[in-house]
Amino acid sequence: DSNIGTNTSANETRYIPPWTQPYIIGVAGLSGSGKTSVASKIIEELNTPWTVLISLDNFYNPLTPEERETAFSNEFDFDSPSAVDLDLCYECVKSLKEGNKTKIPVYSFSKHDRTDKEITIYGANVIIIEGIYALYHQKLVDLMNLKIYVDTDLDICLARRLSRDILYRGRDLEGALKQWSTFVKPNADLFVKSTMQQADLVIPRGADNYIAIDMMIKHIQKQLLRKSREHLKYLEKLNNSLNKV
Ligand code: C5P
Repeated sequence: DSNIGTNTSANETRYIPPWTQPYIIGVAGLSGSGKTSVASKIIEELNTPWTVLISLDNFYNPLTPEERETAFSNEFDFDSPSAVDLDLCYECVKSLKEGNKTKIPVYSFSKHDRTDKEITIYGANVIIIEGIYALYHQKLVDLMNLKIYVDTDLDICLARRLSRDILYRGRDLEGALKQWSTFVKPNADLFVKSTMQQADLVIPRGADNYIAIDMMIKHIQKQLLRKSREHLKYLEKLNNSLNKV
């Protein structure tokens, strides 16, 4: 059984119980589309232990002092795919999938920088990866069991983004509007919208779309049930082989 043992080095074999294989969900969509609300809804409705939310916001690349200066005048492009360390996110998720713990960086939006804190995740049953580029990096997408794209009108995204930037991210109206028209919208058109093609499920309007949310939750629950049945089958097999000894 390929799940059971993985060689991590020449003389260490890591035991990976089959129930640690996490169910991985990606949630993408434009900035302000309601990705976080959809992710929270999944967590709330599943109500399953060891559900972990990983936001791509944590993976913004550290900036040089010069770049940080441009960021404070809303002239740094945080919306290009190269602004996010998607490789690092891939490594973190892969590590969890292989039964290892991982460390997630913690980012400050008011300082435009990584903080000196890290979050350690020891394991997960369900992992939700949320961010504008959640469905962009092919290696990361290939780790996912379910890919979701939240499709919300641009004017609603802008309204949500402005209030959030001003209330919670320490920005002013003029700067937030400048960043939107210079970087957020052009990059959304160039790179984010096309990732909808990678999705298994497109949710118009986001978390308020309770029919879509309900159907999505039922699907995830079915898949988790299948996973736990496979686990039971594995235990039965193990039990039978032990009885034969
Ligand atoms: O939460 P949401 O998906 O909207 O976060 C992504 C947005 O965060 C990007 O559109 C980017 O413009 C913005 N961002 C920012 N300042 C940073 C890093 C990202 O405004 N330092």
